[in-house]
Amino acid sequence: MIANNRIIKRNLGKLVTGLLLTASCLSQAASLDDKLQKLAQDPAALADGKQTFETVCAACHAKDLSGGAGFNLKDEEWVHGDKPSQIYQNVVDGFMDKGMPGFGAIYKAPKLENVVAYVLSKRQGLANLSYKIYPVETQQSQKHYQLPSDINPSKSGPLANNLIDFNLPEINNYVIEFEGDLYAPTDQATKLHAMTSFKHRTELFIDGKMVEPEIDHWQKRIWPLKKGKQHIVMRYYRINQAKNLNSRINIFVLDNRMKEKLFAISVQGKQFLKNATIPIKAEQTARIVRKKVVDLPTFSISVGLPQQVNYAFNTRSCSIVGMWTGDFINVGPNVEGRARDGSLILGEWAFKHPQEVAAIEEMSCHFEQYRLSKSEPEFIYHYGDNKIKLTAQGQSSHQLILNYQLLSGDISSMRHWQLPQGDDIDVDVAGGRIEQQQLVLEKSTRQWQITITKKGKE
Ligand code: HEC
Repeated sequence: MIANNRIIKRNLGKLVTGLLLTASCLSQAASLDDKLQKLAQDPAALADGKQTFETVCAACHAKDLSGGAGFNLKDEEWVHGDKPSQIYQNVVDGFMDKGMPGFGAIYKAPKLENVVAYVLSKRQGLANLSYKIYPVETQQSQKHYQLPSDINPSKSGPLANNLIDFNLPEINNYVIEFEGDLYAPTDQATKLHAMTSFKHRTELFIDGKMVEPEIDHWQKRIWPLKKGKQHIVMRYYRINQAKNLNSRINIFVLDNRMKEKLFAISVQGKQFLKNATIPIKAEQTARIVRKKVVDLPTFSISVGLPQQVNYAFNTRSCSIVGMWTGDFINVGPNVEGRARDGSLILGEWAFKHPQEVAAIEEMSCHFEQYRLSKSEPEFIYHYGDNKIKLTAQGQSSHQLILNYQLLSGDISSMRHWQLPQGDDIDVDVAGGRIEQQQLVLEKSTRQWQITITKKGKE
């Protein structure tokens, strides 16, 4: 119902703006569109926009723009118009009756342009999406079939939800074509991933040019994407194929390392991601998870503490390879992706690999065991000839205390420790002193403590 409502609202919005725009307004809007698109490439404008967004808009739209009281501002769904000039006008006017103040009365135009530019730079998903279905009758193999240039689609139209949908064709032999603008992240390289059977020929055109897949095998088609906005055509052939061949096709945009599904651009893919949310929270007691986590090296064990602070211990390097605040972990992608995808942290990083808490002297690491003792996880390991016990306590949602104890061995072989660094973390130690951002342990100590605090939260 809500979705329907939104679509009706969206179309009404288009109609109204369409009627109101006179020729002169139109050219003004077009030049504002241009200006805002340019600002969306300008690092100084984006830095300013980000700051305004995080202090003013994030309360309702979330820091990552994923929405809260206010709508999601980076996905494919735009209720009040997705043109840069429309977004700008919406921010100026606000939606008083729905709970968003008009910011035109509060900030000057340049500030608001920068914040809109920032929103545009975060945009992801499809826009102006349409489809065409061509019925095909041929004895030719699907692989060699050429779509005649004069063939007319039997069905076509816009896709109001801007999601690729493979439930549209009602015939067995067809080519379906999706065409629209794809917005990919501007700040990282990404790839398009179609989970389709290799028996179904799938082609991708970006800005008019056919792109060869980087990977093309069973259940996996992967193409490199450009950064930011690009025009795409996806053509999918289903000709003379067995009826029962799976046509549930999930299409995603992945990070460049193919570890994380950033967002879905098909109806089926979106459903897939929704089902792939299995949060594990450490509400009453500590939780331990051995699943692979995006951004952490393999063989890391993640621990969530009820104080809403979390960390990960790596059993190959015997080091602390990450700490994050907030809720623990979403293992959903890992389960649904048959363990190919990493789990995602739910909170915010304080630090992560390659930042580490680790002895600098290089020795062999032999991990013995972990156990929950008095609801506090305990890691026992050998580092060279030293046997160490590590426990950790959450002091608050932004502070973690690591307690090290030398059970046997000689501390002089591992007196220097690497500590995480950063503008937003503080490190304190007991049992040693900090010298040039390293921990130097006291000569005779058998116990030491490292306290890491993520700043900016009281
Ligand atoms: C107090 C809460 C609140 C704040 C602060 C807020 N918004 Fe909103 N915003 C909303 C709500 C609620 C809506 C949905 C209006 C509706 O229901 O039609 C919305 C809608 C929008 C839309 C329209 C989205 C669409 O789908 O068309 C844009 C764009 C937007 N906000 C941008 C911003 C920006 C940029 C800021 C900061 C300068 C901001 N908002 C601050 C609550 C807020």
